[in-house]
Amino acid sequence: MSKFIVLIGPPGAGKGTQAKLVSEKLDLPHISSGDIFREYFNNQSELGKIAHRYIERGELVPDEITIAMIRERLSKSDCETGAILDGFPRNPVQADALEQMLLEMDSEVDLVAYIDVPQEELIERLTGRLTCREQGHVFHRKYNPPKVANRCDYDGSELYQRDDDKEETVKRRINVYMQQTMPLIEYYLRKNLLVKVDGMQTIEQVTKTLLEVIGNKR
Ligand code: AP5
Repeated sequence: MSKFIVLIGPPGAGKGTQAKLVSEKLDLPHISSGDIFREYFNNQSELGKIAHRYIERGELVPDEITIAMIRERLSKSDCETGAILDGFPRNPVQADALEQMLLEMDSEVDLVAYIDVPQEELIERLTGRLTCREQGHVFHRKYNPPKVANRCDYDGSELYQRDDDKEETVKRRINVYMQQTMPLIEYYLRKNLLVKVDGMQTIEQVTKTLLEVIGNKR
């Protein structure tokens, strides 16, 4: 039986950090819409260039582009057993599209974990974030520093600051989240799929809580 887990939460809540850890533990692919856009951009594809225009402004990439990209990713064979979705869906239109895509795979969303972190914390987390060039592993200058300065612990690649992690863009991303993504909380509460997780715990404690709530859903 397949297992599809959605992680939602504001920018900087820890979705990417947790999705990587949980996907390794559960042996499920980690699908991050932001990582896929960045990969397309690094490969200089047309889609990547279009997406980048929205990302650098802190706005959402249009639904038709995003939905088609996720549809293609979910059609790969490694998703037959499920996936950890990070950053998609991001509004009710995308959530409806996901439901339809999974229905076509004879599956459904099992659980939506809402990682809750107060706004004051998000700017500090994002402006201090370091991201690895090769595989998108994330660190934080203060909260989760790499063992060797500016080198990823996992693959040794260079760490950099994302363009959209500058304070002005972070503020814009938080506004976009409040307006466009927050309605998903209500959407998934109505479907009885939402579980709220305290994102102010340590990284290890958040992972433990997530694994517990996912396990309880079995
Ligand atoms: P995306 O890359 O998805 O960015 P995001 O959702 O804004 O989320 P972030 O990656 O910024 O944060 P996160 O929650 O993953 O936090 P992280 O684990 O890194 O999207 C980028 C852009 O792409 C969007 O703005 C949009 O333009 C476009 N896009 C993507 N998906 C789209 C969609 N579906 N539709 C349309 N457009 C889309 O953690 C942050 C920092 O905090 C790190 O430094 C980490 O080390 C630290 N940290 C994590 N957990 C903790 C903890 N518990 N305690 C202390 N520090 C912690």
